Amino acid sequence: MFYMFFCLFLVAGFQISAGLVNNHPQQIHISSGSSNQMIIVWNTFVDTKESIVFYGMAKGKMDSLANGTTTKFVDGGPAHHTQWVHEVILDDLKADTFYFYMVGSPKYGMSDVLNLKTWPSGENWSPSLAIYGDLGNLNAQSLPRLQFDVAQGMYDAILHVGDFAYNMASENAQVGDEFMRQIEPLASSIPYMTCPGNHEVAYNFSNYKHRFRMPGDKDQRMYYSFKMGPVRFISTSTEFIFFPQLGLIPVFGHYDWLKKELEDANKAENRAKQPWVITFGHRPMYCSNSDNDDCSHSESVIRTGIMGHLGWEKLFYDNGVDIALWAHEHSYERLWPIYNRKVRNGSYDNPYTNPLAPVHIITGSPGCWSKHDPFNKTMPSWSAFRTQDYGYTRMKVYNSTHLYMEQVSDDKGGAVVDKVMVVKDKHGSYPYDPTPIKPMEEGSEMFRKLQHLINHYKRTMSSKRK
Ligand SMILES: [Fe+2]
Repeated sequence: MFYMFFCLFLVAGFQISAGLVNNHPQQIHISSGSSNQMIIVWNTFVDTKESIVFYGMAKGKMDSLANGTTTKFVDGGPAHHTQWVHEVILDDLKADTFYFYMVGSPKYGMSDVLNLKTWPSGENWSPSLAIYGDLGNLNAQSLPRLQFDVAQGMYDAILHVGDFAYNMASENAQVGDEFMRQIEPLASSIPYMTCPGNHEVAYNFSNYKHRFRMPGDKDQRMYYSFKMGPVRFISTSTEFIFFPQLGLIPVFGHYDWLKKELEDANKAENRAKQPWVITFGHRPMYCSNSDNDDCSHSESVIRTGIMGHLGWEKLFYDNGVDIALWAHEHSYERLWPIYNRKVRNGSYDNPYTNPLAPVHIITGSPGCWSKHDPFNKTMPSWSAFRTQDYGYTRMKVYNSTHLYMEQVSDDKGGAVVDKVMVVKDKHGSYPYDPTPIKPMEEGSEMFRKLQHLINHYKRTMSSKRK
């Protein structure tokens, strides 16, 4: 059947152009929001007019065909580098099944035969993930090891927690093209789930928005959630508030969405299905790096917001976020369970058994052009472990009570340099804490920068009251 389709398309119009052409699909990557869905995306440098995926459960039997959409993407740089982004959504796949697939246009060119595996259905399975942010095109030291892991079938998905390529928009977006080709061995076989970072800001995040298509983010808002076995992952954008010049609506819109999303995730009926609520976003609430980033301040913007508004920490605490994943710092840091700058271990002997606050992990050290971010000499009391080694994080969610994470050091030949088992007999809101979160200091550099945002917020609130 597949060959019949293919021959028909060949007869319909094979085109030969004079000079050099590059019609072939490239930069192939996938994402998913469920066990019967795969979102397949690739780019071409000519308008192939069509976006087609052939797929099936055997290499010689790719007899299913799906059509998708094509979007012209013109980079904002002076060369106006142009390409076409193809997106096909497969939503009739069998759960827990290997598929072979080819993407492209039978008239212009098809990709190699690739393969993917769908997630098991339901909640009672054990997802495995690789997690990192801040992976560059240059000095992507951990990439070969990740490729090897993926080839062994170690993961069901990758979370890339912002900052890609350094930068996708650089050199008229050719760095982005090269980076997407570079991660294709990973991203074409398991869902490559993303959130934006500060390095995606150029031309209002247009490289990020065009290149990545995530489930439930049809309007390219750059935030979404998805369920994976016993986990609800919530992908956030920490960036809106740091770039208010790009628009204030996303700042407030994202916050309102995040609040509703967390409240929904924490409803008893939803928590019964997805007991683990895990957020990922680029800029951390806390870190002990010495680079003066937001997270290194006592009252970070992400954590405390502005004048008591728009902070995330109370939302996370009130709605029982289990794990908060971050990057941005080019290092790895595991925190003791923490809320409002106070350590809230489950107990002295078993700090991560029934912790009394979210567990924060900062994992931004797979390797990139700008290398490492140093730590403060003094390790704060809330920091449990930290390392400068290049590497990445692995997570396995065994069941509703046990979640395991480990840190792989690429510098040490793949050795596991940190590990933690988070055990929770019960998920949900943490004990009520009346202590207010101290707001950011007025007059600070960040406060001045965001002053107009505060004023806008005040005006919005007062007009709502009228
Ligand atoms: Fe960053």
